[in-house]
Amino acid sequence: MNREIPTEIERVLLDETAIQARVRQLAARISADYADIDDLVLVGVLKGAFIFLSDLARNLTIPHEVDFIALSSYNKGVVSSGAVRLIMDTRSSVTGRNVLIVEDILDTGYTLDYLIRTFQARNPASLRTCVFVSKPERHQVDLSIDYLGFETPDEWLVGYGLDYADRFRTLPYIGVLKQAVYA
Ligand code: PRP
Repeated sequence: MNREIPTEIERVLLDETAIQARVRQLAARISADYADIDDLVLVGVLKGAFIFLSDLARNLTIPHEVDFIALSSYNKGVVSSGAVRLIMDTRSSVTGRNVLIVEDILDTGYTLDYLIRTFQARNPASLRTCVFVSKPERHQVDLSIDYLGFETPDEWLVGYGLDYADRFRTLPYIGVLKQAVYA
């Protein structure tokens, strides 16, 4: 599909080809790592992770279940408050199961930190994290990511699930938003 790049976007940081190649690599690694492990459940974090999760899951070659959790950060803008609110929980229990949390972005890390603590308290058989993009300059919490797509600079990213005011999520690439749009 030939789509115009919206005028709000300064440049494409990760194009569709690079994204899809990386997703296939991550899916191959996950498929190998979980080859002998039963009962894998991917937990996508709404809204942002829905596109990455759907591509990742469809590239897995091992049985898995897909579930979702929805969170929202209080007062999230350019500065994050760090407080996270659970809006919707997973449909199935994760106790005794192999949980892989799937996130679109690790920014401050408060959300993933909250998720890890929340799921760990539910006694899963194992708990790992898969994050598509991480902004190391923004991290406020020390977290280890098991499967990471890309590290990116500290710029406002949109596309491939990432939004600005709920726009641009379904672009097939990751673009950098012009500063004038959010400044
Ligand atoms: C985004 C993203 C992560 C979180 C990461 O969600 O999907 O969940 O921010 O930020 P952090 O590392 O600073 O906690 P957001 O709250 O914007 O909601 P959305 O996924 O519905 O867009």
